[in-house]
Amino acid sequence: MQITLTNEDLHSIATGSLLVLQFEVEGRPATASYDAVRAASNGWLDDVESSGEAKGRLFETTVLHRPQGFAAKRLVLAGAGKAEKFNSSVLRRLVGAAIRKAKANGASDVTLALDAAYAGGEFISAAAEGALLGDYEVDTHKSKKDERTEIVSFRIAAANGDPAALQRGIVVGESQNLTRDLVNEPGNLLTPLVLADRARAMAAEAGNLDVEVLDRDRMAQLGMGSLLGVAQGSSNAPCFIVIRYKPASPSSSDHLALIGKAVTFDTGGVSIKPADGMEKMKYDMAGGAAMIGAMRAIAALKPSVAVTAFVPAVENAVGGNAQRPGDIVKSLAGKTIEVLNTDAEGRLILVDAIEYAKRQGATHMVDAATLTGAIVVALGHIHVGAFSNNDAFLGKLLQSSKTQGENMWHMPLDDDYRDYLKSPFADIANIGGRWGGAITAAYFLREWAGETPWIHLDIAGTAWLEESKPFMPKGPSGVCVRTFVDLAMSW
Ligand code: BES
Ligand code: MN
Ligand code: ZN
Repeated sequence: MQITLTNEDLHSIATGSLLVLQFEVEGRPATASYDAVRAASNGWLDDVESSGEAKGRLFETTVLHRPQGFAAKRLVLAGAGKAEKFNSSVLRRLVGAAIRKAKANGASDVTLALDAAYAGGEFISAAAEGALLGDYEVDTHKSKKDERTEIVSFRIAAANGDPAALQRGIVVGESQNLTRDLVNEPGNLLTPLVLADRARAMAAEAGNLDVEVLDRDRMAQLGMGSLLGVAQGSSNAPCFIVIRYKPASPSSSDHLALIGKAVTFDTGGVSIKPADGMEKMKYDMAGGAAMIGAMRAIAALKPSVAVTAFVPAVENAVGGNAQRPGDIVKSLAGKTIEVLNTDAEGRLILVDAIEYAKRQGATHMVDAATLTGAIVVALGHIHVGAFSNNDAFLGKLLQSSKTQGENMWHMPLDDDYRDYLKSPFADIANIGGRWGGAITAAYFLREWAGETPWIHLDIAGTAWLEESKPFMPKGPSGVCVRTFVDLAMSW
C-alpha cells in the first residue's frame, strides 16, 4: 500500500472511495468536507440525515456511488462518533475500519479528507498507522487467501499535511505490523534461533542498529541459571537477543532498556497447561516481538536517547530434561529461586534479562511480557497492566500510551506482597499463592529491578485479539510498539 498526502481539491480527486468524516449530530462541528458533500449531493445527504440512515456513529459507513460533483467513484460517510470524544486515537481506528470495509467492498484506492482542525501531525500519523494496521491480515500461511481487494493506495487529502508526520506514521505502522507478523508465527516455525534471525534481518534492513545474540554456552558462562532452567526441556536452543541503538548526539547519559519476554511456545513445562486453548501459547513471545518492532521504528526515527532491546528467547517444553517443580536455580544476580511451578517461566527468563540490562548500563528499564492469566482476570482484554517502582517514570510512559491510544492501567506493587513469595528452601519462590497473581509476578521481577527505575507491562490480555474488531482482525495486536517509540522520541 502506497500512503501519500495530497493538496488536491476534494471534488477533483480521482479515487475509488473518498472518506469524509461524519460526526454525530449533537455538537457536530462545521467542516468544509462535510459542507462540500452537502452542497454537491443534491439532497442525498439531507435524506440520509433525516431518515436516520447515517447517524455518524463510530465505524458506521454510508456509501454513495457516483456522487455528483466529485471525481471519486464512491463517497463514504465515515462515522466519527461524538465530536467531543474525537482525537487522533479515534481517527486511527476509524481509518482502520474504513480500510477493512473498503477491502471487502472492492475499492483499491482510498482517500481520506481531513479538515484543517484534524490535520495536525498527530492526526496525519494516526491516519497512516490506522491504514496499515487495518490492512493487516493473518493469512500468511493460507495457500488460498480470503477474497478481498488489495488496497494499492491510501491518500490523505489535507491542506498542509506534514510529510514528516506521515513518514513517522508509516514507519510506526509498519513496525507494529512486523511485531504482529512475528507474534502470528507458530511455535514450530518461529523458534528462539529463528526469532534471532528475524531480528538480524530487521536490523540489516533498518540500519543504525547492532545485534548481538548470546548462545546457550555464553549464557551458561555468565551464569544465567534462571533462564537456562526454563530452556533445558526443549531441543530448540535458547538465545538472548540484544539490539542496540545509539544516538549520534545523545541528549543525556540515560540508557533505556526494552526487555521483552520471548517464550516461543509455552506448554507450561512439567506443570503442563490444559490442552484446551494451548495453541494460543505461540503468542507468548509478544513482549519480545514488541521490542523488535519498536527498535525498527527507533532506528528510522532516531531519538536522542540510547535504547537497547534485550530479548531472552526460549521454548518452555516438556521433555526428559525439563525442569521439575521444586528445582532450585541460581539467577545471574546470584539470588536463588525455588521453581514451584514450571509454568511461571516468563518471570524466570526476565530476571536474568533485567540483571543483564543493568550490567549493560541501563538507567531505565521497561519490560513487556505476556506474563499472567491473572492480568486478564483483572483487566480483561482492554488494558495493559502497568507496574513500576518509580511513579515519575511510569507517569512518562503512561503519557505516551495515552497519546498513542494504547490503554494501560496502573496496578499496585506494595511491599506487603513480598510475603506471598517466601520459600523455605531458596531466596524466593517463583509463584505466590492463588490471589493477586499478576501482582506477585510483577513483585518477583521488582526484586531484581532493585532501585533502577523500572516498569513492567503485563500484556497477556492485550497482545492477542480474541475476536476481530472493526479496525483489526482477530489475532496479534502489536500492542506497546507505539508507546515505546513515543517514549523514546519524547525522552
Ligand atoms: N504465558 C503464560 C501467561 C498467559 C496466560 C498468557 C494466559 C496469556 C494467556 C505464563 O507463562 C503462565 O503460564 N503464567 C501462569 C502463572 C501461574 C503458574 C502462577 C498463569 O498465569 O497461569
Ligand atoms: Mn507459562
Ligand atoms: Zn508464558
